[in-house]
Amino acid sequence: MSAGAPLFRAFVALGALAVLAVLFFLIEPGDAYYWIKALHVIAVISWMAGMLYLPRLFVYHASAVAGSEKSETFKVMERRLLRAIINPAMIVTWAAGLWLAWYGFAFKGGWLHAKIVLVFVLSGVHGYLSASVRNFAEDRNEKSARHWRIVNEVPTLLMIVIVVLVIVKPF
Ligand code: HEM
Repeated sequence: MSAGAPLFRAFVALGALAVLAVLFFLIEPGDAYYWIKALHVIAVISWMAGMLYLPRLFVYHASAVAGSEKSETFKVMERRLLRAIINPAMIVTWAAGLWLAWYGFAFKGGWLHAKIVLVFVLSGVHGYLSASVRNFAEDRNEKSARHWRIVNEVPTLLMIVIVVLVIVKPF
């Protein structure tokens, strides 16, 4: 598959989001906020599902012998999970989240600023996992199964704090 394919899919996801947003405005401008919020939560669930599953695959992949059938199967699973789910879901989460932050809150609020900072950290973890998919694909992973078990907990912790911030809005 060419290197441009994930980028192309990302643009398709963004385009679809823009079309949906315009449609929501045309149908019922007052309801657009809730539709975009629903889209945001659906994208968040998909992104998090992938972010929790990918390092779990790495735990098993790290113990598989390079070149074995098992290892090759993990490579396909990891690549598809990243390209088909995690990458597009992250883009839709960001696009819809930024729109909600602008339209609903004019980017004001301590909880919102803290949330955005934590989502930057989560996106950094995403970048690390994405680079690790490439390392595994080229049989260059040197990290242990234990390392991936620990990495697995990072998105979980970030997600808990992010959800509390947006729902409780403590400051
Ligand atoms: C930079 C990216 C993001 C921005 C700017 C953002 C911003 C927002 C905003 C403004 C809302 C509406 C809050 C309200 O109506 O009270 C919202 C809802 C929500 N966000 Fe995000 N968000 C982002 C990423 C995330 C992530 C990564 C998660 C989870 C891990 C998440 C979880 C949620 C949830 C669960 C809601 C629904 C809250 C409710 O309706 O009470 N968001 N987001």
